[in-house]
Amino acid sequence: MSDPVPQPPAITPSPRRCPGMRGRPRTTCIVGSPLSAAGGVAVTGIDLSQPITPTLREMILNAFLDYHVVVFPNQVLSREQQYRFIASLGKVEPHGGRNARAKRYAVAHVISNLDGNGRPVDRSSSPVSNYRWHTDKAYNAVPPMLTALYAVELPPQGGDTEFANTQMGYAALSEVTKQRIAGLRVVFRWAGSRHAPGIPPLSQTGPEARPPVDHPLVRTHPVTGKKALYLGNHASHILGMPPDEGTALLEELLEHTTKPQFVYAHHWRVGDLLIWDNRCLLHRAVANYEVSRYRRILHRNVVRGTVPF
Ligand code: SIN
Repeated sequence: MSDPVPQPPAITPSPRRCPGMRGRPRTTCIVGSPLSAAGGVAVTGIDLSQPITPTLREMILNAFLDYHVVVFPNQVLSREQQYRFIASLGKVEPHGGRNARAKRYAVAHVISNLDGNGRPVDRSSSPVSNYRWHTDKAYNAVPPMLTALYAVELPPQGGDTEFANTQMGYAALSEVTKQRIAGLRVVFRWAGSRHAPGIPPLSQTGPEARPPVDHPLVRTHPVTGKKALYLGNHASHILGMPPDEGTALLEELLEHTTKPQFVYAHHWRVGDLLIWDNRCLLHRAVANYEVSRYRRILHRNVVRGTVPF
């Protein structure tokens, strides 16, 4: 399927200073060195609980486009402060979960491994969990461009999130494969992976009853113009292709684009805020800790994107 794996871009330590925040001392904010060949950069010396200037916003969005994952360590953010920062980058979408009407939940909703009684529970083997490679809300006609996740409580070790760079994955495909998949469309369903044994039948009334959508398997980044694979856990099948053939192709491409050389693994610390680009990344939570023993709590929001093309 792939040509010899291309060499990743050279990582040069080139910290850059960035503009100060309104009413605060200047020149403290630093865009660091790339965290991996597949993406990721840390931006330090910035207090996101305070409003940011237009220049700083532009610097952050440039880092977002260049590195796909931007890490802001050591933040102390209420849900409202997190919301205000993320809303300065784009239109924050309300979460469609069962608590969507609760105001605080809409401001920044909770991602955790807790059950209704606040006890840790292991859902990592579920085929519909966020432990599977996915891109957020691909089952929507207009999926979000950006997701933000803020670490509130973590296990003593592990609890990583991994990101797979699907632009690099696409670029490394053979020309034959690129031609084979050009123009194909993937059908995404909220319940795309609910064919597995043990998964209860879908409700006909809840959010899971929403109609499927289809998006290009090779999507073009609306800002950079780069092509990326668009697939993952909500991908149900390929339009017009026999189901078995479509499933096999999706699995083959997923395995390819999640190879270690295309992956950045984020090792969380409490106070990290991450933003990432859903248009060229897959991500998954990693159950590399005692999931049913330690609590893992993060606050999340997503920013509206555009129709994939
Ligand atoms: C997500 O899938 O949006 C969250 C990933 C994580 O919990 O690490």
